[in-house]
Amino acid sequence: MAAKPHIPLDVLRQQVCACHACMLADGRTQTVFGAGNPNARVLLVGEAPGRNEDLQGEPFVGAAGQNLNRLLTLAGLTREEVYIANVLKCRPPSNRDPRPEEIELCAPFLREQTRTIDPEFIVPMGNFATKFILKTDRGITRLHGHLMKAGKFKVFPVFHPAAALYHEEKQLALEDDFVTLGKLLTQQQ
Ligand code: URA
Repeated sequence: MAAKPHIPLDVLRQQVCACHACMLADGRTQTVFGAGNPNARVLLVGEAPGRNEDLQGEPFVGAAGQNLNRLLTLAGLTREEVYIANVLKCRPPSNRDPRPEEIELCAPFLREQTRTIDPEFIVPMGNFATKFILKTDRGITRLHGHLMKAGKFKVFPVFHPAAALYHEEKQLALEDDFVTLGKLLTQQQ
């Protein structure tokens, strides 16, 4: 059977912009599709846009984004060389947790983004992204910092950079994990 053609990112972005599949569309300022290098070796996946992301249309531009920028440098990476996306493309009201039906409706966009970018590593950040990518009920506390596989992708889960802002032990674990990610990237060229 012939492989399914990949959908170009700009076409996917337009589909996301036009999406009204769930009620999150009613409360959004704009969708947050994702940003970065379309040929990235590393795809980082967060949970959902927050207030700043909803206003600016870019992922991880608030306090969690500042933390992520610092963490990336520990892995020897820049934002320009990775791709950053979220499980949900619209902000949940008051930053509440994503609902299962919202994840299910939004999931095809992240799946297609992943197929098109075709990264070597996927780094899910936090519980929602990790459960989604690995199809597991195991929590991030047990899974972070372990290299796993999902299909052909290497998966390296880490704590969410926002959760770590107020928990020093999570921040230290995140920093360790990004250093490890940097080593994995140099070992596995
Ligand atoms: N938290 C996320 O999970 N994603 C963002 O884009 C910003 C904060």
